[in-house]
Amino acid sequence: MSMEKKLALRFEYTSRSTTSTQTQQKDGHLHNAGQAPYTVNSTNRVDLMASGRLNLNESMALAPNPVADPGVRVPKARARDIVHLAEQAGDILARAREAALAPGTKKVLRKFNLKEVAELIGVSAKTITRGVQRNELPAGERVRGNRLLFTLEEIHEIQERLGLRPWRDAAMDKAVVVAIANFKGGVGKTSTAIHLGQYFALHGYRVLMIDLDAQASLTTLFGLLPDSEVATEQTALPFLEGETATLAAAIQPTYWHGLDLIAANLALYGAEFSLANRQKAEPNFRFYQALKAGIASVSDRYDVIVIDTPPALSYVTTNALYAADGIIVPVPPAMMDFASASLFFSLLGDIQKVIDENEGGEKVFDFLGLLISKYEPGNFVHQTIHDWVRAAFQQRVLFHTMGTSTVLRMGPEIQTAYEVGAYQGDRRTLSRALEYLEGVNGEIERLVRAQWPSKAAPRSVAKPERLATAEAVS
Ligand SMILES: Nc1ncnc2c1ncn2[C@@H]1O[C@H](COP(=O)(O)OP(=O)(O)OP(=O)(O)O)[C@@H](O)[C@H]1O
Ligand SMILES: [Mg+2]
Repeated sequence: MSMEKKLALRFEYTSRSTTSTQTQQKDGHLHNAGQAPYTVNSTNRVDLMASGRLNLNESMALAPNPVADPGVRVPKARARDIVHLAEQAGDILARAREAALAPGTKKVLRKFNLKEVAELIGVSAKTITRGVQRNELPAGERVRGNRLLFTLEEIHEIQERLGLRPWRDAAMDKAVVVAIANFKGGVGKTSTAIHLGQYFALHGYRVLMIDLDAQASLTTLFGLLPDSEVATEQTALPFLEGETATLAAAIQPTYWHGLDLIAANLALYGAEFSLANRQKAEPNFRFYQALKAGIASVSDRYDVIVIDTPPALSYVTTNALYAADGIIVPVPPAMMDFASASLFFSLLGDIQKVIDENEGGEKVFDFLGLLISKYEPGNFVHQTIHDWVRAAFQQRVLFHTMGTSTVLRMGPEIQTAYEVGAYQGDRRTLSRALEYLEGVNGEIERLVRAQWPSKAAPRSVAKPERLATAEAVS
């Protein structure tokens, strides 16, 4: 982005509240006390918005010159100024989201090349090309250079034809519910959840993702605007309120074949009150059991159910934990996050004790693992806290960590690492991100599969069974 565009962008946001130290001059310049004027160029500004290249990080980096006297620079604030701040922030967010996700436009998943498909399914590329040549496998799309590209649906079809679907055995194995939880905000719960759900879908499992956070980050990542494109009926709220008998009506398919979603929006906050009221009003109702019953009503269609939880010890979070077979707790390697993790376990332990007493039994989670998230291996502080976390929680800490590069710098484009086809930045950044994800998600996949008696052997040793061409390849 040109400097002029950046500055125009900055003006766009500052000009809405001209403070005592900022004045817009007739010459089209915005003057800050003691600073050089910024050029205002409305055409650039419009172009920037229209092209959807609004980059919030860049606009934030353009904060006023920090050396200006703070006593003059930072304005006083009354309630109405604060309300105005909220409006300004809301405005920026709405524009960023519009640029990335125009209402009504649907996200589409990219296609995957032969190498990716072969790796995902665990067969050689030759097996696939021969299958395609013999019309035994979906044809895919031939693009420039005679390369083959496949949709996720075609990948699943290839798995099906090769007898390599990794589905659980309906008679022997249960659908495994994994909750991603930590009462601390911003530790990487949503990021972990979405990449995990998408990993399972990529590998051919049937996945349901449940967004239980009224802030709806997960829902937004699936390309839905929570305020305008998610109806209350598409969230868990009606079920938690006791208005629907199953969770089925809340489920919607996504542009990821094999991955369904129960979305969230702000109305989901209402679940807190409903659950508390129902506990008082309905004699046999236990507020923490509701979601588990809801999941049981739909789980026969899925292999894995991934729940993203809000950063709070709420009734809704307690429901997610009660419904969970396994819990993954992301913890960034920072002092405050380490302290919060220990508080989280203390509170979770207390809640579980009370629930166990109530239920007259002892719930055993199939797994409860910590995931070191947002990790920079070259950062000395991160290394130190990483070592503490491992020393304190030992086997409970996942072997793999989630490095910082997992979140790619993509400006306002709302995409996960799996969705990025051609990355604008350094190609190695994307490969590193995918390596981290492969490590962490592969480890959680093994934890899930360990709960399935029929799948004692890991997925990678499975051999193609049905296709003649597959047998020809060792
Ligand atoms: N591995 C990572 N490395 C660097 N940044 C990350 C990583 N994972 C997440 N982030 C960033 O940290 C921020 C919070 O991530 P995320 O939304 O996943 O956390 P969260 O725990 O779900 O937050 P909340 O508690 O608000 O729901 C986001 O800006 C995200 O891009
Ligand atoms: Mg979140």
